[in-house]
Amino acid sequence: MRSTSARLTLLFASISGILLAVFAASLYVWVEQGLAATLERELGLQFALFQERFTAESGGTGEELLGELRSFLGTSAAAAEIRRKDGTVLYRSPGFSEQLPGYHYRRGRLRAVSGETFDADFAIPDTAHREQLRQLRLYYGLFCVPGLGISALIGYFLARRALRPVEEIRRQAERITRMNLSERVPLPSSSDEIHDLARTFNEMLDRLEAAVDDLRNLAADAAHELRTPLANLRAEIDTAVQEPHSPEEHEQVLMSVADEVARMTRIVSDLFTLARMDLRQHALEKRRIDLRPLLEEARETWSAAAERRRIQILLEGAEAPIQGDPSAVARIFMNLVENAVKYNKEGGRVTLSLRRDPDSVRVSVADTGIGIEPEHLPKLFRRFYRTDKARSRETGGAGLGLAIAKSFTEALGGRIQVESAPDVGTTFTLVFPPVAD
Ligand SMILES: Nc1ncnc2c1ncn2[C@@H]1O[C@H](COP(=O)(O)OP(=O)(O)O)[C@@H](O)[C@H]1O
Ligand SMILES: [Mg+2]
Repeated sequence: MRSTSARLTLLFASISGILLAVFAASLYVWVEQGLAATLERELGLQFALFQERFTAESGGTGEELLGELRSFLGTSAAAAEIRRKDGTVLYRSPGFSEQLPGYHYRRGRLRAVSGETFDADFAIPDTAHREQLRQLRLYYGLFCVPGLGISALIGYFLARRALRPVEEIRRQAERITRMNLSERVPLPSSSDEIHDLARTFNEMLDRLEAAVDDLRNLAADAAHELRTPLANLRAEIDTAVQEPHSPEEHEQVLMSVADEVARMTRIVSDLFTLARMDLRQHALEKRRIDLRPLLEEARETWSAAAERRRIQILLEGAEAPIQGDPSAVARIFMNLVENAVKYNKEGGRVTLSLRRDPDSVRVSVADTGIGIEPEHLPKLFRRFYRTDKARSRETGGAGLGLAIAKSFTEALGGRIQVESAPDVGTTFTLVFPPVAD
């Protein structure tokens, strides 16, 4: 966090530093070249003036000429040396030499009225130009260096401000434990990446919370489900040992004890199946199987129970192959057909149908039973979940059948859906990926 803002600050400062340096350097070069060109032009101009002046004055006496030259050079800060053809010096400015520091030189020829020519070295100082460059550098020093510091500071504050929500999210996330999983991290008001991050994080917490809730409820529900048969067992055994009974009565008690034990055994074994599915320890086969015989088997198993309540079970559709585990699929079908019969009405109907589409294989188990209220539908596949109607029916299930069906279906790459209308009927649909022929 802190290093991120430091890195952003550094990045911001270096980018503005580079931009500033490039800008300053090119401005400097540009100004310097401009000044050099101006200086050259001025040198040319002044030398031309000097030549004119020399020619104009060269008619007079030597003394007059020298006086003129001296006063001309004195006003323009220029310096010159004039030599005759034989090399002797006619005139030399005080202190003139060929390398005066800061002077720019030009060599040329002077012509007197008499026709005589002279060689001249002419020089002007670049003091003014150097002064301008110095001021430019001073300006750089005064503005660019502090400017760089200010831009780093701005970068730092921008980075800090941009990252503040991240810090808040981090702090809040740190506080969330198993005990306060219902808390959420604050959503920043801006709708940017950090907002998305916080939202995604909260959605993850939603899922975690639901999973943890499920686990918590699972233990409580399991204990609750097992307590009733255990209490029944205990009561029956107590009465059996307390009073004298006939052998027939003992047999009765033992049979009912066996029933309770069977019920508990089923709950425990279902829970065990689910736990092994959760831990992915339940290895499912994946081979090509046809769903129709398995569906027929389920119909066969529940036909007697159906007949007792005059319920018809119909089977539609031809063969439907999928890639799967026959015993897992058989178990899914058993549960669904059992429910369709169990939660049906007297004289009702159960329709089992198979459909093979290009992109899926669908199995549906539809009944004309009591139906399910919409508010139960989202929770229907939870462990131990039963609707109130189902509870009051005393049909004996523990509410694990659909949880197992869902777990197996998903492990086989499919999904399970339910549609229901209260008092009209319910349809469970399994959708499996198709298998190539
Ligand atoms: N075909 C159906 N019609 C109406 N309700 C159903 C149907 N299938 C399942 N349910 C509801 O879903 C609950 C969970 O089903 P399930 O997991 O098989 O548990 P169980 O059959 O042991 O009660 C049932 O208790 C019942 O309330
Ligand atoms: Mg069931």
